[in-house]
Amino acid sequence: MAALPPARILAIETSCDETACAVVENGRTLLASTVASQMDMHARYGGVYPEVASRQHILSILPVIEQTLAQAHLALSDLDVIAVTRGPGLAGSLVVGLNTAKGLALGANIPLVGVNHLEGHIYSAWVYDGPPKGDNAGENPPPEPQFPLMALLVSGGHTELNLMESHLKYKRLGATLDDAAGEAFDKVARLLQLGYPGGPAIQKSAEEGDPAAINFPRAWLDGRWDFSFSGLKTAVLREVKRLEGEGKPIPAANMAASFQAAVVDVLFTKTLKAARQFGAKAILVAGGVSANRALRQAFLSQKEFPVHIPPLSLCTDNAAMIAAAGYFRYALGQRDGMEIDVLPTWPLS
Ligand code: KG4
Ligand code: ZN
Repeated sequence: MAALPPARILAIETSCDETACAVVENGRTLLASTVASQMDMHARYGGVYPEVASRQHILSILPVIEQTLAQAHLALSDLDVIAVTRGPGLAGSLVVGLNTAKGLALGANIPLVGVNHLEGHIYSAWVYDGPPKGDNAGENPPPEPQFPLMALLVSGGHTELNLMESHLKYKRLGATLDDAAGEAFDKVARLLQLGYPGGPAIQKSAEEGDPAAINFPRAWLDGRWDFSFSGLKTAVLREVKRLEGEGKPIPAANMAASFQAAVVDVLFTKTLKAARQFGAKAILVAGGVSANRALRQAFLSQKEFPVHIPPLSLCTDNAAMIAAAGYFRYALGQRDGMEIDVLPTWPLS
């Protein structure tokens, strides 16, 4: 894309259990980001309780927007565009963000751009902390991902491998046939009684364990780019039952480490193979599971492809990623009207 227009975008994200707002300039420079997590409220249910999430978004959304604008030292009149997540996600949660975004766009008389949450995750890799704050602040922004780009999206609800030939164009090569990677982390954490959310809990426990302790199965699904994690989850369950049956203690750390190693092995190996086969110039990894240290290390320790992984704070749900994706959509001419509705089921491609 040549000569993109400058734009300061405020984005809102309420697809699940985080109420988030951010301001990003030109799709890359982060000026402010706020994420109000409802994690503690849902932890007692062992997962997100939709009705609770929606009510909490209503309470949090305006303070979160005010805090973000204050942090950026900006007023509504300083903004050029409002971007918002339309889906996929929980309808009752999405509707709070979308209606608030419509109100802001109407009030400020600026364009509204609806964004796909999965596209947001991918574009989180474009965002960097702008000067004067942040670890990578400075004159030169980090390099932009180059196309063709092999993009691995690994979140709580989705696991897919997409070939991007250019901005906003996705060729889905494969996806999970059963559980998403994050979902597998969450379910196995529950099996091992490590708590919620499962990803960070497994990672923490795995640090005390041996990844080679148990040789859990890897579903390679040769000849296709899809993934499957339910067999692995069942193997963990079987091992837990076997040990329980024998009256033995569950070596949770070794099981967590061995499970994590199996997931990372498949995600890393298949993505690298696809990048080679499709002549990618770079690899992108995004979504909640891209926060996983073992997964990041696997990708960052190879030198064959440049790798783009968002900073930790932008791996899980946030609004900066929605602003970034919204920017590229805005630059392409997308403008949405007040009639747009939420899209709880909305595939990327
Ligand atoms: O992208 P995300 O915040 O929400 C969705 O759009 O789904 O992803 C949440 C998922 C959860 O399943 C969580 O357990 C997982 O990301 N996750 C992790 C880690 N941090 C979050 N999985 C593995 N290791 C982590 N450090
Ligand atoms: Zn997400």
